[in-house]
Amino acid sequence: MRITKSAFKPETDLLIPVFQGQSPEGMQSMFSELPFQLSDVFKSDFKGETGELHIHYEAGRRFFFLGMGNKTGFGPVYKTTRQFSAKHGKKLKKSLGLYLAHLIERPETLAEAVINGLLTGTYQIGAWKTDDQPEHPLSHHEAEIQVYHPSIGDEYFVALANRALIVAESQIRILDLMNTPSNIKTPTYMAEWAEESGGNHGFKVTVLSDDAIWENNLMALAAVNRGSEEPARFIIMEYVPEVTENCPSVGLVGKAITYDTGGLSIKPSDSMSYMKSDMGGAAAILGAFEAAVRLEMPLRLTAVIPVTDNLVDSMSIKPGDIINSYSGKTIEVLNTDAEGRLILADGLAYMVKNHQVDYLLDLATLTGATVRTLGSQAGGLFSNDDALAAMLEESGQESGERLWRFPLWDEYGDDLKSDTADVKNISRSPVAGHIFAAKFLEVFIDKHPRWAHLDVAGVCFGDTEFGKEKSGTAYGIRLLIGFFEKITSA
Ligand code: BES
Ligand code: ZN
Ligand code: ZN
Repeated sequence: MRITKSAFKPETDLLIPVFQGQSPEGMQSMFSELPFQLSDVFKSDFKGETGELHIHYEAGRRFFFLGMGNKTGFGPVYKTTRQFSAKHGKKLKKSLGLYLAHLIERPETLAEAVINGLLTGTYQIGAWKTDDQPEHPLSHHEAEIQVYHPSIGDEYFVALANRALIVAESQIRILDLMNTPSNIKTPTYMAEWAEESGGNHGFKVTVLSDDAIWENNLMALAAVNRGSEEPARFIIMEYVPEVTENCPSVGLVGKAITYDTGGLSIKPSDSMSYMKSDMGGAAAILGAFEAAVRLEMPLRLTAVIPVTDNLVDSMSIKPGDIINSYSGKTIEVLNTDAEGRLILADGLAYMVKNHQVDYLLDLATLTGATVRTLGSQAGGLFSNDDALAAMLEESGQESGERLWRFPLWDEYGDDLKSDTADVKNISRSPVAGHIFAAKFLEVFIDKHPRWAHLDVAGVCFGDTEFGKEKSGTAYGIRLLIGFFEKITSA
């Protein structure tokens, strides 16, 4: 894939994003290169509403006027373009012009959003179909996007095009990982995925397996894994940039349950069917980590990903059992379906004990309560640091991968006091389950002063343009990259 900034070329097909309310008369001067009058085009009913498409044919070329609605941020533009690329890919050729000359405000952001959307929209979901699948023209190795915007500087353009391409490649790999079923996506598969990424992009990956998990006292992970035939894995990824002076450090902990049946506290079957996606928090971290390394971002990154499935067996942990954990704290497991917080307890405690990080973030498909509260419009955010929360919220707004903050007041913690152990894994309260889950995690961060927990249960898997069933969304990669940019430019 080549992304070039070019002079206006009359020979390629052109994509022209149009915002609602941009009047044809006002725009004609900005479209002076087009070989036709815009008013002819706008004689059609085209209004520029989100996703609206008008194709104008002229001299053997196609001019795709794509409606962008009235939201000019990165998120909506990325989303609309991604949908266009996925739905109308068949109409495209491997060379596409992007006409952006009429975009005056923040053209760099919009250019990046459009390119990112076009590329991520090339993702094909039918990986296990045995018939040959038609290739998306923009996935072709000779594919080219030629951007026409006279006032974006060359250097800036190279940076934005590179970021759009690298982020899109990571997003596609994560869509693929999310949509891979759990009989293939075992903990071993996840660990190999991370090792391969580390090998390809030059970061260190250490994987703790069977005995090492016990020897390291990762007992909460081992407890969840008891009911499974597939052995657990504990993945540690480390990236140190070339120049480390004044580099902030970030510790990322991701929930990777490759399938969540609920264990003996078994889920009803309709809410079980999506549970191959219960590694969505880890997936966002894997994608963002890979992209950040490829972009050579000036920060230290450490990721810790405990991986197992949560299955039903005579060996499974039982509601009422008391287990040990890496931190040394004992946990009364009253519901085996609250398993994500158990493996995160070990992940967080391991991170804070072995790595000194300025920022501690965990991402997890943790609770149905978050889904019931926010649906698919935002992830839940919990943090003990207002400045960190503000940066994450801002990155969420900018990327369109939004977050909504909930409180961590002490009173919620009272519900997690166990009679017999140090802490219990659920509250008996039928409400505010997402807050109790976050309070449980807080027990294991050893008072780290800058911690944020992102509950991504409702956002990393959902309705998408790629298929009829729910599937991966790639939520979190852009959000984290945006956050990394904020802390490195502060
Ligand atoms: N993996 C689920 C949470 C989830 C729900 C993810 C819906 C994606 C969509 C998690 O392990 C879970 O089952 N949580 C329980 C906790 C409860 C037993 C306290 C829940 O939220 O119902
Ligand atoms: Zn569960
Ligand atoms: Zn789960």
